[in-house]
Amino acid sequence: MPLKIIAADITTLHVDAIVNAANPSLLGGGGVDGAIHRAAGPGLLDACRALPESAPDVRCPTGDARITPGFALPARYVIHTVGPVWHSGMAGEARLLACCYRNTLRLLREQRLRTIAFPAISCGVYGYPAAQAAAVAIATLRDELAGDDSTEVILCCFSDDMRAIFQHALNAA
Ligand code: APR
Repeated sequence: MPLKIIAADITTLHVDAIVNAANPSLLGGGGVDGAIHRAAGPGLLDACRALPESAPDVRCPTGDARITPGFALPARYVIHTVGPVWHSGMAGEARLLACCYRNTLRLLREQRLRTIAFPAISCGVYGYPAAQAAAVAIATLRDELAGDDSTEVILCCFSDDMRAIFQHALNAA
């Protein structure tokens, strides 16, 4: 499977698209969202603001994805997705997290792009337990990438500890 797990700052990667772990407003935040907006420059916020709202202050519902240019980033595009906030695990979190990976790859393919880097969606502020999020990510990506030799996926963790958790999930799958 063309899937690599690394520890790096996602804003430095030269890929067709990096994924932003955003919130439904798409107007920025902390964590990887803040880092991507800082590195992309103000054009990214303008592009996000221009996306249509499906409800007040909702430009991307949880589990869905939207694409913008990458502006000053080395990546050509940013695919913004909104992971679930972890409550108890009984509120559909795993299904919604899987939707993030699926909908992001759907946009990648629609744009005929090949290389993509995901952060550990929902594993920061949104509180998803990392080992469980990694299992969902790996299972969904394996399923989506079966028989697809052209898409290259990087799981870009921000620490060695997180990289080890995702690597363990890949080895266990
Ligand atoms: N590169 C790669 N990964 C990063 C980077 C970076 N530059 N910065 C942070 N991360 C990692 C975090 O360490 C964490 O493991 O991204 C993972 C996801 O954490 P968050 O960014 O907190 O994302 P999430 O848990 O999905 O919460 C989303 O945070 O900032 C807000 O607007 C965002 O409200 C939304 C919420």
